[in-house]
Amino acid sequence: MNTTGSFADFFRQLKIRDVLKSLRVRFFIIVFLTGLISCLVMHRVILDSYEDRAVNVKSTEVQTQLRILANHLIVSNYLQDTSSEVINAELDMLANLYDGRVIVISDDLKVVKDTYNISQGKTIISEEVVRCLKTGSKGSVSKYDAANGYIEVVTPIIESELIQEEDVSVSGKSAEVVRGVLLTSVSTDTIDTTLEILSNRAQVLEAIIILVILAFAAVVSYTLLKPFGRITAAINDVKAGYTDEPITGPNYLETEQIINAFNALLRRMKVLDDSRQEFVSNVSHELKTPITSMKVLADSLLAQEEVPNEVYREFMTDIAAEIDREDKIINDLLALVKMDKKASGLTITSVDVVSLTEVILKRLRPIARKHNIELTLESKRAITAEIDEVKISLVIMNLVENAIKYNRDEGWVKVELDADHQFFYVKVMDSGYGIPAESLDHIYERFYRVDKSRSREIGGTGLGLAIARNAVLMHRGTIEATSVPDEGTTFTVKIPLTNLAASGK
Ligand SMILES: Nc1ncnc2c1ncn2[C@@H]1O[C@H](COP(=O)(O)OP(=O)(O)O)[C@@H](O)[C@H]1O
Ligand SMILES: [Mg+2]
Repeated sequence: MNTTGSFADFFRQLKIRDVLKSLRVRFFIIVFLTGLISCLVMHRVILDSYEDRAVNVKSTEVQTQLRILANHLIVSNYLQDTSSEVINAELDMLANLYDGRVIVISDDLKVVKDTYNISQGKTIISEEVVRCLKTGSKGSVSKYDAANGYIEVVTPIIESELIQEEDVSVSGKSAEVVRGVLLTSVSTDTIDTTLEILSNRAQVLEAIIILVILAFAAVVSYTLLKPFGRITAAINDVKAGYTDEPITGPNYLETEQIINAFNALLRRMKVLDDSRQEFVSNVSHELKTPITSMKVLADSLLAQEEVPNEVYREFMTDIAAEIDREDKIINDLLALVKMDKKASGLTITSVDVVSLTEVILKRLRPIARKHNIELTLESKRAITAEIDEVKISLVIMNLVENAIKYNRDEGWVKVELDADHQFFYVKVMDSGYGIPAESLDHIYERFYRVDKSRSREIGGTGLGLAIARNAVLMHRGTIEATSVPDEGTTFTVKIPLTNLAASGK
């Protein structure tokens, strides 16, 4: 087997399939076929109806002539005596006129006269003739034989007789008796010739129309689908240069939808890009602050000679505190990065939320005690939920920690747990200084702090609520805050009891 050949074949097929895949090619084919088919159908219909009409006209004409002739035959008693010169001439003339043949048949099916002089004296048993003899009063019948190019007309020769006196009901009227039949075949050569001429002309016209349709289909498919090419070019421009400019172009509704969707994507990418940049600069800044402090502390120690031991100790304690800060920031950042992953990053287990909260509060109680803050837990019922224990711990821990940190001395922090059949609720209330209304929308932003210097003093990184919110969102829950400045703040977290994302529902 020739491998090169089969490879070439493969690529040729591939190409044809690609070509057929093109909307433009399909459009072209559809427009072209529509035009072509309607053109051909029109051709057929017009020629057919011309043929029908011409045959009809001709047979009516022949039938009229034959009826007149049939009367003459009766009047001159031709069926009994065929010697009448006048009638014979009339018969021949008719046959010549229509380029056909006229046969006169009597009621015993004998051929009385044949203009071809072939069948004289013979008996003709044709279905049409017999039927016409029986039902002659129904008039003449014609039959078109398109294949052989003639029309056959069967006309009854009818004699009217006066009805006898006894029959009162129909007296004075005449009865019609069929004396014989005129069997005529008429050539349709003239019709065929006309048809041929018409068909030739139609073909020339068709060729022209097909060319026009071809050109039309090409132009239409080219121009109609041009905007798609423009969109691709515009998107490629964006890809190459990463311009932030939205793409535009004179367009259809459909392409406009594509453009709008793409521009929305562009905007979203820009927002993401901006926020990433801001995050990186914030991170650098936050990480730099403790290092700057340490540098200052170390430099000032080094600048002095003969530093007393206590001073060393004091400075080193400060430096250690800064290192702790740096460590806390890095830990928070790592926690945050982990939270940014999808919900699939959750490790779901069945967790007793009440005891989990108790453990957390126990850990935080020493800090609360330091400021004489009363820390209480009220749980309305037993709660078991399918959650990621570590992440929900972070949420409760951050909220309670904030409630203690941003509180006045001798204040209180209340944690309330509740659940309905769908969700469980964690409510953290405090008697602290509250959050100003204009800051409420920003507290979940990374590194956002209402009062930067105070927060730093207390040891905040500004990442706690961002981490908490991400953890809540990963559980498809919500977190809300209400606050009255100088009176206190309430955070409410609502989390589904069963984890829909993890169970794949
Ligand atoms: N319970 C609260 N009372 C008053 N202010 C609060 C409370 N919780 C959070 N805040 C404000 O929201 C800011 C962001 O909180 P958070 O993200 O936990 O950062 P951090 O606690 O590290 O400063 C805090 O700096 C503080 O200004
Ligand atoms: Mg905090």
